[in-house]
Amino acid sequence: MTPPPSTPSVDAEGMAAPSWGHLTLIEAGAGTQRTTFAEDVAAGLTATPKSLPCRYFYDEEGSLLFEAICELPEYYVTRAEREILEAHANEIAAQVPSATTLVELGSGSAAKTRLLLDAFFRHRQQQRRQHLCYVPIDISRSMLEESSHALLNDYPALEIRAIAAEYDDGLRFLRAESERPKLILWLGSNVGNLERAEAARFLGRVRATMTPADRLLMGVDLRKSREVLEPAYDDAQGVTARFNLNLLARINRELGGEFDLDAFEHRAHYDEVVGRIEMYLVSTRTQRVRIRDLDLTVSFEPGEPIHTENSYKYSLAEIDALSAAAGLAVEARWLDRGERFAVNLFVPA
Ligand code: AVI
Repeated sequence: MTPPPSTPSVDAEGMAAPSWGHLTLIEAGAGTQRTTFAEDVAAGLTATPKSLPCRYFYDEEGSLLFEAICELPEYYVTRAEREILEAHANEIAAQVPSATTLVELGSGSAAKTRLLLDAFFRHRQQQRRQHLCYVPIDISRSMLEESSHALLNDYPALEIRAIAAEYDDGLRFLRAESERPKLILWLGSNVGNLERAEAARFLGRVRATMTPADRLLMGVDLRKSREVLEPAYDDAQGVTARFNLNLLARINRELGGEFDLDAFEHRAHYDEVVGRIEMYLVSTRTQRVRIRDLDLTVSFEPGEPIHTENSYKYSLAEIDALSAAAGLAVEARWLDRGERFAVNLFVPA
């Protein structure tokens, strides 16, 4: 019997038999040996200079703050990508075979995915095919459950195979998805949070899961002036500052940290040579901070930074070089009217 849309069947081992209007949730955490939050915090705060990995931004509080960032007037990234998808979703849907499975890396709330789903369903109705399989991959299981239920409510013909996993563990499952063509979505310029060499290596691993019939649709934020970039990462309402400071709040919550959030300032700096926004939390005074569960006390000088994120920006030539290094070729590319953002359709080279 097919479970009703609101009842996810959870299969921790592998794929359950597919059915329409149905959610299967798979947890795929065991494949890669990974360091823990505690280990990464201890390593980052005892290093010189101090740093913390940006992937720890996204606990429940951080994910909500990120959603709020996407609505900010200064953070053009989400709006520019949405503008492109609104204008070209039909074209994208028409460009891939009708039985294509939609896979999304880092699906989050899947808000922009709806534009593509609408176009895919419109296209399928024309062809009298209603069934569509969507495979969202995200580290947040709660986000996956929430967004999948919302999607099933609005798209009852959808079959969702949600994978709660880090990207690399999720990719293992994509290799098994070879019987139907796939369109892999990697939106939101998430590529920008990887070092450039790391991004090429990761795209190479995505490429290794692709058959000649598959496509990758990747959203990339473009290089632009400091006057636009720095406010996008240091907004007037202070939402990005709270997003950044939430890392310290998370250490307090989860590791018994004693950070005084008022003793650190958010800073965003654009390095235009390297082409990246750098985010820091800067100590406003001399201080010693105890982190109970790590049995660690960290000392800070006044003005000492903790490096928390890089967000790389790309020129079109850099996107071409990145994809070529990964064995991908650009099949189509669309920019927003302000030429701030590029959505790229890649084919295996
Ligand atoms: C998720 N990622 C693409 C965002 C970015 O623009 O680099 C994260 C972010 N950090 C501060 N604001 C948004």
